[in-house]
Amino acid sequence: MRYNFLLILLTVIIITSLSCKKQVHTSDIADSFVDSLLQKMTLEEKLGQLTLYTSDWDVTGPVMRDSYKEDIRAGRCGNVYNALTVDYNRMLQKMAVEETRLGIPMLFGYDVIHGYKTIFPIPLAEACSWDIPLIQESARLSAREAAASGINWVFAPMVDISRDSRWGRVAEGAGEDAYLGSLIAAAKVRGIQGERLDDPFTVAACIKHFAGYGAPVAGKDYNTVDMSELSFRQDYLPPYKAGIEAGAATVMASFNEIFGVPAACNKFLLTEILRKELNFKGFVVTDYMGVNHLIPHGVASDKQEAGILAINAGTDMDMQSGIYYETLEKSLNEGKVSLETINQSVRRVLKLKYQLGLFADPYLYFNNEREKTEVYTTEASEHALLSAKESIVLLKNDGFKGRKNLPISKQTKKIALIGPLGNSQIDMLGCWHAAGEASRTSTVLDGLRKEFPDSQIKYMEGCDFSSPDKSGFKKALSLAAESDVIIVAIGEQERYSGEATSRSDIGIPGVQEELAEELIKTGKPVVILILAERALCFPELAEKASSILYAWHLGTRAGDAIAAVLSGDFNPSGKLVMTIPRSVGQIPIYYNYMNTGRPYKAGEKFSTQYIDESVEPLYPFGYGLSYTQFEYGSITLSADSIAFNDTLHISCTIKNTGMFDGSEISELYIRDMVASVTRPVKELKGFKKIYLKKGEQQEINFSLCSGDLKFYNSEMKYVCEPGKFKVFIGTSSAETQEGSFTLKEK
Ligand code: NOJ
Repeated sequence: MRYNFLLILLTVIIITSLSCKKQVHTSDIADSFVDSLLQKMTLEEKLGQLTLYTSDWDVTGPVMRDSYKEDIRAGRCGNVYNALTVDYNRMLQKMAVEETRLGIPMLFGYDVIHGYKTIFPIPLAEACSWDIPLIQESARLSAREAAASGINWVFAPMVDISRDSRWGRVAEGAGEDAYLGSLIAAAKVRGIQGERLDDPFTVAACIKHFAGYGAPVAGKDYNTVDMSELSFRQDYLPPYKAGIEAGAATVMASFNEIFGVPAACNKFLLTEILRKELNFKGFVVTDYMGVNHLIPHGVASDKQEAGILAINAGTDMDMQSGIYYETLEKSLNEGKVSLETINQSVRRVLKLKYQLGLFADPYLYFNNEREKTEVYTTEASEHALLSAKESIVLLKNDGFKGRKNLPISKQTKKIALIGPLGNSQIDMLGCWHAAGEASRTSTVLDGLRKEFPDSQIKYMEGCDFSSPDKSGFKKALSLAAESDVIIVAIGEQERYSGEATSRSDIGIPGVQEELAEELIKTGKPVVILILAERALCFPELAEKASSILYAWHLGTRAGDAIAAVLSGDFNPSGKLVMTIPRSVGQIPIYYNYMNTGRPYKAGEKFSTQYIDESVEPLYPFGYGLSYTQFEYGSITLSADSIAFNDTLHISCTIKNTGMFDGSEISELYIRDMVASVTRPVKELKGFKKIYLKKGEQQEINFSLCSGDLKFYNSEMKYVCEPGKFKVFIGTSSAETQEGSFTLKEK
C-alpha cells in the first residue's frame, strides 16, 4: 500500500503549497486535508481510526484482545499504546502505512506521567516545589525522551484534584488545590507539546481524567463521584480547563460516573462543558475499556448501546474495548448514530495526526540515532536531581540535646541507615514509572555513600515493609547504639500507589513506625525519612521524632537528592500540596473548606468538630520548613477599597533570619467574607518562591483584581460580588499575616 501512502503525501504537499500562496491558516489546511481524506474512507476505515489497542509490550490493564497486529493490518486499529522503542513502533507503523488501503499512520500513546526512562519525582511530590518552570521542564524532558523512543502521544498530564489520601492515585496529581493545580496543568501541557505539535521533539498531551476522578466516594478507585455542580466547577474543573486552554490536543474521559452518568457517556460533561464552554477542539479518548464499562455501570444493556451512548455523548476514541469497531456500523444502519457524528470524531483524530506531521512523515518519531543519544541524557538526569531536591518537604527539625539533627555534618563518623526503603531502587521510581529502569536509580544508601565519603555508613532493613515481624529490631538497635546519627527510611512501597491501590488505613504499613520509635528511644540523633506517594498519617511518630523529612518517591535521582538535603548541600524548601491528616477519620480534609453555620470553636461543643479527634491536620496545606528561618513583616495593602476595574497591590517583607541561605515559598490567600453562596475560609490566589541569603531581606509583591475574586454563584455564573474580603500572606495556609479590603459596588 506504499502507493496509497505516496498519494496521501502528494495531496499534503499540493494542499500545503496551494494554501501557502493563498495565505490560508494552517488549521484550514489541515481541515481540508482531513476532509478530502475522509471522503475516501469506508465506514470500516473510519471506525478503525476511532479504535485504540494496547500492544502486548507493557500492558496497563486487563487484556481483552491480543490480536492488535492483525487489527492494524486489517485497518481495524488505527492507534496503539504501550508499544515502545523506535524499531518496534516503526515495525507497527509500517503495517499501518504499507499494508492498509489508505496507509493512514498511527498514533503511539504511552503513560508518561513523570518521565519516560529518566524518572522525575511523582507528580504529587514535584508539585510541592511550587516551581512552575521546573515542572514544565520535567514535562518537556519527559516528552522529549518519549518522542525519541517512538511515542507521539502521552496520557498526561493527570490533573485530578483530590482531597482524599486513601485514593492511591493522589500520587499522579498536583494535590488538593485548584489554583496551583491549574498552573501546573498548563505548564505540563506546554512542556509536553512545546510550540508546535509537528516538532518531533514534542508529543501530544492528554488531559485526564475528565472529570472529577479524584473524588471517588470513600477514596476507592473507580468509585462513584457525587458532588454538586458548584463544587465541581469551583474545586475540580479549573485544572482541566487550564490544560485545555494551554492547548492540550486530547482529553481522556474518566472511569467514574459524575452527576449520575458515567463520564464516557456524559453529554453534559463532554459536550456542554468540554466542547461548548471550554471550546475544546481536540479528541476525547476513553480510559481503558471505558465504553465497555457502561454495561457494568448499568447505563447500557449491551455493547451496542454502550457504543451509541458514548459516541453520541462526545467520546471520539474507544480505548481497548473494540466496541466502536464492532457495533457502530449496525447502529448507523439503525439510525441510532449519525454518519456526521462518526465523521466528526474521525476528523478530530485525523487532524491530530496531521498536526503531529504524521501524514507528511509517518516515521517522524522513529530515529534510531536519536533514541541512542536522547534517552537518559545528562541534561534529564541533572534536572531530575534538581526537581527531586526541590520536592522534599521538611516537616520537623526541632532541637535535640541543644542542637538540630539536620543538616547532618559531613564530619559525622558513623551513620546508620535503617529501614526497608533505604536501599530499594524500584520503590524510589514510584508508581507509573513508564520505561524507567530500577537498576539506574539511586537509593538513599547510594546517595549517602557519595555525599558522606568520609563517614562509615552501615545499612540494615530492620524490618519488612508490611509484615508484623520484629525479629530484625534487635540488630537494628545494636547498629544504632554504635552510630552517631541514625537515618530511618520508612514509608510505602511503590506498589501501594497509582491505579487500583486505595487504602483504608493510611498509616505507615507494618511495624516500620514501631521500629522508628524504638530507634528514637536510643537517645541518639534520629532523622525520619518518609518515602511515600500519598499524605500518610503518623501522628505519634510526628510527636516523638525530632526531625522528619517527607521525601516521597523521587525518581531516578532520589537517593542523590535526599543525601544532598541531609547534608545541607541543598536547603529544603518544598511545601505540602496536600494536607496531612492526623487520622483517616478526618478525611476528606483540606485547607479551603467552608465555614458552616457553627464553625469550630475550641471548647464549644455545638461547633463543627469531632468528639474524639482534633479538627486540625497533622500538617496543613502549604506547610514546609527550611534549615533557616524566615520572618514575615506586616502586610501592606495599596488601598482599603477597590473598584471593579482597579488592582490591589499587597506586599510584605521577608527576612532570612537563620543561619543558612535558602528559598521560601510565600503564599497569598483570600477570603470572601459575605457572598450569595458560601465561600471557602481561604483560597490560594498567588505565591512567590524567593531565594534569600542569610541575613537578606526582600519585599514581595502581589496584586489582585476583581477577576481574581470571581466564583460560581448558584446559577453557575462566574461572578464577583462587591463586599468585604480578607487577604493573607504567609508561610503556610495556617500561618499568615492578614489584611482586609472592600470591593466597591459597580
Ligand atoms: C488506565 C488509567 O486510568 C489511565 O490513566 C491510563 O492512561 C490508561 N489506563 C492507559 O494505560
